[in-house]
Amino acid sequence: MTTCTLNAQEKTALTSMITTIPGDKSISHRAIMIGALAENTSHFTNFLFSEDCLNTLAIFQALGVNITVSTQEKSVVIKGVGLHGLTAPAKTLEVGNSGTSIRLLSGILSGQKFTSTITGDTSIKHRPMKRVAGPLAQMGAVITGTSREGRQDIFPPLTISKAPTGLQPITYTLPVASAQVKSCIIFASLYSDQRSTIIEPETCRDHTERLLRHYGADIEVNGPQIHVSGKHPLRCPDDVFYIPGDISSAAFFIVLGLIMKNSELTLTGIGLNPTRNRLISVLQKMGADIEVFDIKNQDGEPYGTLRVRSSVLTNGPVDPADVPIIIDEIPILAITALFGNGTFQVRDAQELRVKESDRIQSICHMINAMGGSITEYDDGFDLKGPAVLQPFEIDSHHDHRIAMSAIIGSIGGHVAATVHNCACINTSFPNFFDILTHLGVQYDLSHD
Ligand code: S3P
Repeated sequence: MTTCTLNAQEKTALTSMITTIPGDKSISHRAIMIGALAENTSHFTNFLFSEDCLNTLAIFQALGVNITVSTQEKSVVIKGVGLHGLTAPAKTLEVGNSGTSIRLLSGILSGQKFTSTITGDTSIKHRPMKRVAGPLAQMGAVITGTSREGRQDIFPPLTISKAPTGLQPITYTLPVASAQVKSCIIFASLYSDQRSTIIEPETCRDHTERLLRHYGADIEVNGPQIHVSGKHPLRCPDDVFYIPGDISSAAFFIVLGLIMKNSELTLTGIGLNPTRNRLISVLQKMGADIEVFDIKNQDGEPYGTLRVRSSVLTNGPVDPADVPIIIDEIPILAITALFGNGTFQVRDAQELRVKESDRIQSICHMINAMGGSITEYDDGFDLKGPAVLQPFEIDSHHDHRIAMSAIIGSIGGHVAATVHNCACINTSFPNFFDILTHLGVQYDLSHD
């Protein structure tokens, strides 16, 4: 177990430039997957070398793809094998903690002529997979999972065998706004000659669509409808693709800059894809002083610089339409709300219950331990601010976003904290502690 201990921070102002927010996790997974299925070689820089993405990388190596890594240059070079060039893995594929890996991979593996089994850690074995197995079965895929008492779903390990009649097209309306489910079906559709249509009732991240378009896929987005077929082989244009910094990781330092007095933080190279950047407008609506400038738009994935200054914050209800777009930022928004006036209200966020932990419960434990006032609902919570924070001790429940949120709360609130099970931070943000050090934050990490 890795425990992070922080004394009440003496530092009262932060002024710094942060240039090292790591590459976007969602794009890094898709870079490996789409690069592997391309006819030619792809080169990505600012790849996220976190545990989750390294698991995806190792899985594609196990499926016969040659991938060269330079951790120094933060780059990967993937020798694509084409849509039909993957080979049977010698053993079970391990995704670790990564829901994105297992769900997206299920779509790709459903189109293969060999059998494979995918599994992961304890958290993954409790995450619902019917949401992907259901539509994949409708397309003709042969996919089995494990049952769990009292839960009407299927769970990893998942075994996927050759579809006897190949994959058929589907017209499918997503029952939950999930980019993982959407992407899984898009990937499976690449193995059907005819057009599939996926309808998303609410907007969720569209990195798969953007990257596939970059590779010349037959994909068309028409409002909430995504039409896709496997007619076109995928080819990477002859350039190096820069993976923007992950806004969901930047979120921790954006919030730190807002809640620390007399502070100004500048974060460079941050992804601003409109299906991901709603955090900025949600915070601005709360009164946050955030400037966005130097915007570049490379290959359909825009990025830019954010300047964040200490702000007086006001809490209010989150628009349910924003929820799927800020889904990963809700734990750190709860921390933000501890410093704002009024009630921060989140509803229509049941999806939080099936993330790396039951995040509604984990957020409530964290906020209560910190001395905040929070009421739990099935689909969200009400958090009344501002809070008088107290020293606290919590367990992250092996959830990286809970661990980092608690640490930011301790620093911004100048209270001592002990956060157990912090190793999970490596799943998405391996240099999180390096950035804390760069900012002059005092902390202690112990392994027991
Ligand atoms: C992701 C989609 C989201 C998000 C996850 C990454 C992706 O999950 O929470 O961290 O890369 O597609 P859902 O699709 O389950 O909402």
